[in-house]
Amino acid sequence: MTQSTSNLTNTNTEVREITLTRPDDWHIHLRDGEALPTTVAHAATSFNRIICMPNLVPPVVNVKDAIAYRSRILQVLEQVDIKSDYKTSFNPRMTLYLTDTTSADDIKQAAESGIVQAVKLYPAGATTNSADGVTNLSARTDVFDAMQKYGLPLLIHGEVTETHVDIFDREKQFIDTTLTHMVKQFPELKIVVEHITTGDAADFVLSQSERVAATITPQHLLFNRNHLLVGGIKPHFYCLPILKRRQHQEVLLDVATSGNPKFFLGTDSAPHATHAKENACGCAGCYSAPIALPLYATAFDSVGKIERLEGFASQFGAKFYGLPINKEKVTLVNRPMQIPTSYSYMQQQDVTPLMAGDTLPWSFK
Ligand code: NCD
Ligand code: ZN
Repeated sequence: MTQSTSNLTNTNTEVREITLTRPDDWHIHLRDGEALPTTVAHAATSFNRIICMPNLVPPVVNVKDAIAYRSRILQVLEQVDIKSDYKTSFNPRMTLYLTDTTSADDIKQAAESGIVQAVKLYPAGATTNSADGVTNLSARTDVFDAMQKYGLPLLIHGEVTETHVDIFDREKQFIDTTLTHMVKQFPELKIVVEHITTGDAADFVLSQSERVAATITPQHLLFNRNHLLVGGIKPHFYCLPILKRRQHQEVLLDVATSGNPKFFLGTDSAPHATHAKENACGCAGCYSAPIALPLYATAFDSVGKIERLEGFASQFGAKFYGLPINKEKVTLVNRPMQIPTSYSYMQQQDVTPLMAGDTLPWSFK
């Protein structure tokens, strides 16, 4: 493991500071078109490398789509008003959306493209824009074989979609009925179980080789289903996989702050316009990109483990993907920060971030 460069200092005024390597976000949704000026500016201000999810409409299914999407992102990057250093270091890495028609040749091309970092598996119907996801995993053997051969990781939205399965049990069921078999059938496949939400998922990842890892979002570290449902339905806490009970939240905090490199940062920042969330049929997804690092710092400090943040945020993901550690630094300070109530988004719309209007104990210096 790379030696930690984090540096926790107590200044005279008792304000704690932590300086860490600038983080990467290994799971983020930037969307497309009019959404990009907001999402690209926020992502590039917070992170160096990001892994862009492919669930656009239509999805990113091959290298040609990935190159085109990446150039739309970079074009917007040129235009947004952020520090030029952030523009220079920003490096969006792409994913392909696995469908029933993805071929082994698509995988070969992706592996050779230099910009596709991974392939994303959405079971059909599992979440936002997943209608084109895989309906029959056992028919995709040649694709998983190719991914093993070329060392291209598979990023999994780990939930079953059968209507009779309770929404709170869908992650565990996916592990029991699908993932357990996949890791046996494809022992060389690098897998990231994305945005894990249960102690069951954490245990599964812990029981596997170093080829199996997990990302954890800020919302699943900071909140549980009571925050979503007690005292009224809070649509801005609604994301998939859904927040689980507090015992699961505690396990996630344990593993995220344990220093185990299998667990690393993936915000799953997923913007939906405020009106689409505050709705009789509200969309799933929490928007956290501009404030993700203070959110994670708050979660880590809540269990007295702020010094473990750097490994989780800035080292373990890079190590898993075989990439170098960033050179840039960022300093966080234990000084209150109020989260904006909204950000402008698309034409004449806005997006409400996670914990909108609340005060966080940690902020950027
Ligand atoms: C994501 C989105 O909105 O694209 N939503 C979510 O609740 N996390 C999709 C996803 O990652 O499941
Ligand atoms: Zn996501």
